[in-house]
Amino acid sequence: MSAARSAVAQVRAGLPLLVDGFSAWRDAARELLAHDVPPQDVTWGSPHTGGDLLTSAPPPAAAGDNAGTPPPAPDPSRQQPLRPAPHIPRAFMDMLQSAACCRVPDRWAFLYRVIWRWQQGEHDVQSPADEDGARLNAMVKAVRREEHDMHAFIRFRERPEQAGPPRFVAWYEPRHDVLPQVARHFVARMGKVSWMIATPEASVLWDGRTLHDAGPLAKGPEDLEDSGEALWLTYYRSVFNPARLNADIMHQHIASDRWKNLPEAKIVPQMVKDASRGARKVGQYEAVGQRKGTTIPIAPADAQPERQQPSKLDECRRCELWEFATQAVPGEGPKKAKIMFVGEQPGDQEDLAGQPFVGPAGKLLDSVCEQAGVDRDTIYVTNAVKHFKWEPRGKRRLHKTPVQREIEACHYWLDKELASVKPTVIVALGATALKSVLRTANVTLKHYLGKPMRHEGHWVVTTYHPSYVLRVPSEDAKREAFKVMVDSLKLAHELLERPPEAGEQGDLGV
Ligand code: URA
Repeated sequence: MSAARSAVAQVRAGLPLLVDGFSAWRDAARELLAHDVPPQDVTWGSPHTGGDLLTSAPPPAAAGDNAGTPPPAPDPSRQQPLRPAPHIPRAFMDMLQSAACCRVPDRWAFLYRVIWRWQQGEHDVQSPADEDGARLNAMVKAVRREEHDMHAFIRFRERPEQAGPPRFVAWYEPRHDVLPQVARHFVARMGKVSWMIATPEASVLWDGRTLHDAGPLAKGPEDLEDSGEALWLTYYRSVFNPARLNADIMHQHIASDRWKNLPEAKIVPQMVKDASRGARKVGQYEAVGQRKGTTIPIAPADAQPERQQPSKLDECRRCELWEFATQAVPGEGPKKAKIMFVGEQPGDQEDLAGQPFVGPAGKLLDSVCEQAGVDRDTIYVTNAVKHFKWEPRGKRRLHKTPVQREIEACHYWLDKELASVKPTVIVALGATALKSVLRTANVTLKHYLGKPMRHEGHWVVTTYHPSYVLRVPSEDAKREAFKVMVDSLKLAHELLERPPEAGEQGDLGV
């Protein structure tokens, strides 16, 4: 977009708005919204000038936009906005920013339509049940997937030391504009060593202290052969286990256009062939068996290379629920809270907001805390399962109870939360939470309700899930269930002062 002319003035002059990057689009969109300019009046485009790859600063004026013309007189419409700037919640803005990385030709026009509808009060526009919302969510998902793939499939090649920086170079062909965020990921991961990531559209160079925009690289990875690659291939051969090979899954996980830039692509076909010819029977790649030395008996499970676990919740693929959720919802609360609430899974509103218990169940939880005289802000609140599981019902997304496999997959994250927060008391809200906390499917809520127990160094108090209290039809039963929740929280609070007694050490026997 022209730096000299306001977005509104350009639209009124019948000119297209050329934006290069999210921040330029956001500034233009804010101005247009303030002047009530509807989406159908705006033509958006991209100038392809290289853009704000690293700085997110507004791009320079596009050639031909109004180059060479004197700056116009101040635009009066700019001085008198008709509406205050809309308040866009952070989570929604993050969604728009992610979607903006998706390479679809109409991305700026589409995002403006979405934000326009939001300003008109149509907050469903971010929901997957809405047509635009579904597209928005699909764009966000495609971008996240691309970030994940780029983290997983990028291969750095080492350059000779005497060649000077960068020490490592990688070539990648991303499907979406994810290079800036992926570069930040590697800045955090690779410390002070210098590296460069080149793509057909743009490149970044990290000199150990600063990230530089290195422009597009005309050439591909042909010159990047190195000794590091030989080392990588040796490592890859040694961890390749033909007994566990499932070639179909391997190809499903790595799209065909990724293979050409993976160094191991050269050796995989031969290894797959060997596996089908009988290497499967010996259980390890033949080179391993040929090595001299002492044989150490080892259980097959221990011989497997350890699978890398996701480092970020949002990258979690331990079960399939991520595919249908807007985002993973992490726990929230003081880092060293003494009480931890464990719910079941985020609901519709939590899925959109990215925070646990912000919808109707969360409001009920607020009342429970208030009645029990415990400040909710002192409690760490999380869920057994971190992605929203749902099924469509008309335009609505109806909650679906997670199955044991999903609960177990997500235990990985609850364990991390427990290890870091170290709560004295865990309050399990409902049966799913109880199954997760006790790590068994063989428990019933009724059996444990109101009975505190010791489990793995914590007190565990079991109570109803707030959604049960909301759902229960009779007013009397509702009042009773609410009281059980209040009493449970009071009990949790009392237990903070109670030392574990000898008789209460055994947990599942209660
Ligand atoms: N129900 C839950 O179990 N957790 C939430 O975060 C919201 C509703």
